[in-house]
Amino acid sequence: MKVQDISDRFEFNGGEFSIAGTQADSLIKETGTPLFIYDGETIKERYNYLRKNLPKQIDIFYAMKANPNIAVVKQLVNLGAGVEVASEGELYACKKIGVNPKDIVFAGPSKTDEDITMAIEMGIYALNAESVGEIKRINEIACAKNRVMDVELRLNPEFEVEGAIVNLGGGSKKFGMDSEVVSNVIDEISSLENIRLQGIHVYAGSGIQNGDGFLSNMENCFRLGEEINRNHFKILSIDFGGGIGIPYSDEDEQISIEGISSRISDMIDRYPYIKENNTRIIAEPGRYLVGQCGIYVTKVIDKKHSRGRDYLLVDGGAQHLLRPALIGTPHPTFNISREQKNFIPFDVGGSLCTSIDFLGKDIQLPEGSEPGDYLGVFCSGAYGYTESMPLFLSHDFAAEVLVHNGKYSIIRPRIKICDIVDAQIIPGELS
Ligand SMILES: Cc1ncc(COP(=O)(O)O)c(C=O)c1O
Repeated sequence: MKVQDISDRFEFNGGEFSIAGTQADSLIKETGTPLFIYDGETIKERYNYLRKNLPKQIDIFYAMKANPNIAVVKQLVNLGAGVEVASEGELYACKKIGVNPKDIVFAGPSKTDEDITMAIEMGIYALNAESVGEIKRINEIACAKNRVMDVELRLNPEFEVEGAIVNLGGGSKKFGMDSEVVSNVIDEISSLENIRLQGIHVYAGSGIQNGDGFLSNMENCFRLGEEINRNHFKILSIDFGGGIGIPYSDEDEQISIEGISSRISDMIDRYPYIKENNTRIIAEPGRYLVGQCGIYVTKVIDKKHSRGRDYLLVDGGAQHLLRPALIGTPHPTFNISREQKNFIPFDVGGSLCTSIDFLGKDIQLPEGSEPGDYLGVFCSGAYGYTESMPLFLSHDFAAEVLVHNGKYSIIRPRIKICDIVDAQIIPGELS
C-alpha cells in the first residue's frame, strides 16, 4: 500500500515525510514518541464524502468509541455529525463539547443506572436497549425523574453481514434481543408508562468490505422495521449501525458509497412506512470516519538479528496500538525517516514482555533502518489509543496531535506513568 492511497495529504519527498505540508520530523521531535498524529483534513474529507453520497434521510452519528478524543469528536460535530456513545464517560465528553442531546444515541451492553440516569437527564435522542431487563430499569429511572424516555430496541438479527471482518449478527449474542422472538415481549414493554418505543437498532458487523454486504444489512434492518411497524408500534427511527470497513492492505476492499448511493435511495423508497412516518435513519460509522486519518509514530530503539530474522524494536507497541496483535495482521507501516527504497523484511516488536507484542512481522522497510528512525503505523486513527492497554508494563502513554488548518496542536499531552503511580495508595499498615 502507498501512503497516498491512505490519504492524498500524506507525502514522502525523498526521506522527508509530511502531512499536508507539515514536516513530520520537526513535529515528532517537539512532541516525542510514542505518538498518534491525526490529520483533521482527512477526517473532513471522509465525513464530507459520506454526507454527499448517503441519501439525505440518513443521519450520520459518529461512533465515538473509534476515537473518543474530544478534538476529533468536536471536529465531526462541527461538520454536522451526531454521536453514538457507549458510556457515561462518552456522554460526559459530549456534554463538555456541547453536542446537541437530540443528536446522541446511546448503545451498549451492561448500562449502569448511572449511565441511564445521565442519558435521561441530558435528554438524548434515544437509549438503545439491549434487553427487557434494561428497558424495565430505564422505565423505573425515567419514572423517578418524571420523564418519558425514547428507546430503540437493539435487535440481535438472524442474519450475518457478508464481507464483514467481525460479524455480530446470527447465533447467540450478548448484544440486543433476538429478532425472531422480540414480538413476544413488545406488548409487555409498550405498557411501561415512562418508555416510548420509537425505533430499532441493529449493529450487525464491523469492517464490512463490500457494498452488497452493506446493502443487505440495511435491507434486513428495514424489513425488521417494517414488521414491527405493521404489528406493534410506529417506527420513527432505524439505526442500522456502523461497520463500513477501510483497507489495511492492498488485498482489502473499500466499499464505494458513491457507487451504491442510488441503490440505497431506491431501497428507502421500497419501504413506504419510512416516508409515511418520516422515519429518522441513522448510520453510526466509526472506523470509516477516522481510521485513515491516524498515524501511530514510534521510535526504533534497537536492531538485531535472531536465527534468520531481522528485528526492529521500538519504544511503543501493543500497549498503545493493540489491533495488529489482536487481529494478527499488520497495518501499513513505513519508516518515515528514510527514503522508500531497498526494502527488506523486518519483524517490528514493541517494548512489552509478551510475545504477542508485534506491530507486524515481515514488514518491508528500508534495509538501512536504524535505531533513532521513526516508524509510522498508518490507519491507526480508529481503535488505536482507545482500544489498547496502556498500563501494561508502566510505560508512559502515547501523546495525541491533530494537524489542522496548516498547523498542529497537542490534543492529549502524554500521560506520565509517574502520575499514575502517584495516584496509588499504600494502606497505612504497609507503609
Ligand atoms: C453500537 C455500535 N455502533 C457503531 C460502531 C462502530 O463500528 P465501526 O467502527 O465498525 O463503524 C460500533 C463498534 O463497535 C458499535 O458497537
